[in-house]
Amino acid sequence: MFLYPEKSGTLEEEDEMVICFSPDANAPYANEPVDVINLLLEGLEKSAYLEIGVDTGSTFEKVCATTKHGIDPYGTSDAITHKITSQMFFAMNSYFWHNTYDFIFIDGCHMAPIIAQDIGNALQILNPGGYIMLHDTAPVKKIAQRILLTDYERFIKEVVAGESPYNVSGGAIRAGDGWIGYNGDAWKAVASIRMRPHEGLIYTIPEACVTLINPTLTTATPRPAPPVVSFADLTWEYYLEHWDEILNPMQFGPFEGVCAEMFAIKGIRENLTHAFAAPEV
Ligand SMILES: C[S@@+](CC[C@H](N)C(=O)[O-])C[C@H]1O[C@@H](n2cnc3c(N)ncnc32)[C@H](O)[C@@H]1O
Repeated sequence: MFLYPEKSGTLEEEDEMVICFSPDANAPYANEPVDVINLLLEGLEKSAYLEIGVDTGSTFEKVCATTKHGIDPYGTSDAITHKITSQMFFAMNSYFWHNTYDFIFIDGCHMAPIIAQDIGNALQILNPGGYIMLHDTAPVKKIAQRILLTDYERFIKEVVAGESPYNVSGGAIRAGDGWIGYNGDAWKAVASIRMRPHEGLIYTIPEACVTLINPTLTTATPRPAPPVVSFADLTWEYYLEHWDEILNPMQFGPFEGVCAEMFAIKGIRENLTHAFAAPEV
């Protein structure tokens, strides 16, 4: 069920799925991001949740937090509380609102440099012990993580400039051609952090295609860091070669077990500080 990528594999087709994180090859992720979010938030008496990129609200509406803020300039959900870009949100927040959050889900623009910016901004307003979660960090095929000029030109024309009645991110608009499962190059934002000295714990739950960042926790023994390369050298081949060093993966089952155990021991939790033990190495 849990297949790690071939270390020496060479893709013949960019559209070939080389990894699968579910028993169903047509739906390569067995879990949804909200499964992870709610495991960490459930049992908290009070929690403040921020989602960057709400779109139709399919995750946002299911999140069990006591306060929820959602940012999206183009999304269609009525639940969006801030209809602006994340960049504008963070600037306004630092001048005027001064909100802080226990859980920040980053799922807005899917280009690594912008995701890296969102992470940096999110770290500034994360409550102690809180989590940042990135979506789309475990792509299963090359095409899904490509940043193509045509996709983003179309995104600007149809979504940003308002020609399209429906709102989607970047390359997801290619989905009419069949299952693309567009991820953007979010994995490169993870690689950029993991390859340099960093504080806290970073691990990925591939079955939900998410990476969690907890800057407070230092108890885990992480896998070795991936080799340092420039951004331009973060190729698909590098990803396949150094997949587990980049993502520091943990299976959903053990993750769920740790959360359940922690919840059973502590009952109603006061905050997220101790909400995790070391991942399997
Ligand atoms: C993949 S969708 C989000 C899906 C949603 N989180 C969910 O789980 O259902 C990405 C969303 O990010 C939004 N987006 C794109 N650029 C953004 C930005 N700079 N700031 C905030 N949101 C952005 C898009 O409008 C799009 O609705």
